[in-house]
Amino acid sequence: MSYQVALGFEDGVTRFITCGPSETVADASYKARINIPLDCRDGACGTCKSLCESGDYDGGDYIDDALTDAEAEAGYCLPCQMVPRSDLVVQIPTTSDVAKTTAAAHPATVTSVERLAEGAFALTVELDDRGALAFLPGQYVNVSVPGTDQVRSYSFSTGPDADHLSFLIKYAAGGAMSEYLAQRCAPGDRLDLTGPMGSFFLRESPRPLLLLAGGTGLAPVLSILESLAVAGSGDRPVHLVYGTSRDTDVVYTDLLDQYTTRLPGMTWDLVVSDPATAFPNTGYVTGLIRPEHLHGGTADIYLCGPPPMVESVRTFLDTEGLEVTHFYYEKFTPATVVGDGAAAAGADVASTTPVETPAVATPAEVAPVAVDNAAAHADPEPAEITTAPDELATAGPVATGPVTAERVSEAAPAVATREAVVIPAAPIAARPVGFRPRIPGLFRAPVTGSRGSTGPQPAIAARPVGFESRVPGVFGPGSSPGPAAEEKTSVIAARPAGYVPRPVTPQPVLSTSVPRTTSTALSLSGGERSETITSSTGVVSGEVHPGITHSDAQFDARMALELGAVELTMGRLDAARLAEFRMLAESANQYIRGDRFLDPARFTAANAQFHEYLFRCTGNEALLQAYRILEVTRVMNSVLPDARWVSEDIVPEHLEIVTAFENGDRDAARYLIRRHTEHAKATMRAALADKSVGAAS
Ligand code: FES
Repeated sequence: MSYQVALGFEDGVTRFITCGPSETVADASYKARINIPLDCRDGACGTCKSLCESGDYDGGDYIDDALTDAEAEAGYCLPCQMVPRSDLVVQIPTTSDVAKTTAAAHPATVTSVERLAEGAFALTVELDDRGALAFLPGQYVNVSVPGTDQVRSYSFSTGPDADHLSFLIKYAAGGAMSEYLAQRCAPGDRLDLTGPMGSFFLRESPRPLLLLAGGTGLAPVLSILESLAVAGSGDRPVHLVYGTSRDTDVVYTDLLDQYTTRLPGMTWDLVVSDPATAFPNTGYVTGLIRPEHLHGGTADIYLCGPPPMVESVRTFLDTEGLEVTHFYYEKFTPATVVGDGAAAAGADVASTTPVETPAVATPAEVAPVAVDNAAAHADPEPAEITTAPDELATAGPVATGPVTAERVSEAAPAVATREAVVIPAAPIAARPVGFRPRIPGLFRAPVTGSRGSTGPQPAIAARPVGFESRVPGVFGPGSSPGPAAEEKTSVIAARPAGYVPRPVTPQPVLSTSVPRTTSTALSLSGGERSETITSSTGVVSGEVHPGITHSDAQFDARMALELGAVELTMGRLDAARLAEFRMLAESANQYIRGDRFLDPARFTAANAQFHEYLFRCTGNEALLQAYRILEVTRVMNSVLPDARWVSEDIVPEHLEIVTAFENGDRDAARYLIRRHTEHAKATMRAALADKSVGAAS
């Protein structure tokens, strides 16, 4: 018997579908070309969690992580599992617009497949339209496994500018992708890629880098290294610790040596956990982290490996008292066990939605599970999970045994700032060649727009007339910058001389049907705050923020994400999206007049919409969620309600950023975003100074 299911969306739209006998709501939605949020389609990830407002249904099989008993009691359901027993009304937690869009697909042809080692393959593909895919170093795509309905996720091991794109893939006997690569894959094979995905990518920064790679978690690290080399960041201190379980998993040592030539500031170490290793270092990645690799707390850590590796590194840093400014990580969890113990990882993925089989588990759950540290990018099958050595959970990232881990990555803009660390104010980038900023003062209230304006470069954060008691701009309260602070030249430089970014083909950005993410917050000791995003495709992003310098840290983190979003969206916004972008800028700007807030609260809300827009345009749910878990808006809401002064540059910069997109001027956009960040921080500092004066008086 068939039933009618009313799907209600967040924007008020309702769509009706017909569910056939034994058909899930998700399958019926798919047939109706409605892309409700989905990932695993197996009751494991919770991505599809919705609220059933009326009707009777069989909830199907799922794990508690996806839907708790309490949630089920409250009426929540998993459309990927639920089979109607009557007509239903289901509230879908997304907008109809999102549900109707499709993920960005990138058909590709295999150009080579190479077994690098017993435990790893290199797969290289050529995209039909290379210009259509922009990605950031560290991101990944979903890849369909030919001849199956399986989809796997793999990070690029090549840089964003490469013509042909490569992946480093863990071999797991019996796995769909593994067996395809081992037995059938040949040049000329067609593959479907979808993406890019994930929010684990190299942020622009001059800070030293400590890169930690577990097994095939080396792939995104290679992409990062290539990006650094292409960008001419040779002098930037970079240290890599690459760990594997066995000697037979070790790959690309020659390539890493080559990078030390291209990146003179780079050094690297290899560690193998197998005591019988022929390599010099035995043990875990943490055993090779030295205080000097953290450069007094100024280094950024990028880690790609299984959850125990992430947790052990965090524990190690805490235990050793090593301070870290930014900690970005991408985790891989083992296959989720569903029902009778069969691993979900091998389950059919019958969606056209590009998904990877989910296996999201908390670190605590993962800890007792043997996870090959080469599990990153691993094929999830077979579904065999063994008990890990005791030391796995605490001492290191690796364990041996049958590999069952799937690339359910935890991609993270993990800004792990320890409480005592002060994030240095980011100097503004060098002005891009040819970029002509507006004439100073042109946009004193009322603002009429900024297109086509030219003129000399204004100093930033000039002290506003009559504003003597505080010091806005790049100077902290109490300092004396003089009458007007000169704009600094860049340390976070614009693109290095000689670096020419890959041209992109102007085209609309395809929104993604990648399902919504969920996020959880976790308070850490010492005032730190940690956020974890569990997204579609199993990507989990985490962020940790300090208790203070919080405002600057949040704006810096937003800037880092926005610069990434620029790379993914520049030249790809169609006229409608550009118009919406401008509308959002103007919407925010209406609450400012010159250097005065007219309505700080409404400005904060509208400003959040404006800044979120680029992330929405990336079609990358993880990036969007990474933006949303920043506390920029919360901090603004707490600081600005009574604020009067606002940097007069905020309004024109909003418009100029849009103009840069309209002109396809990437350098101008990057410059303006950096500049805008400084003015936003200046505004916040002024408001904070006012609050403290008010509190003291
Ligand atoms: Fe429904 Fe994962 S639980 S898509």
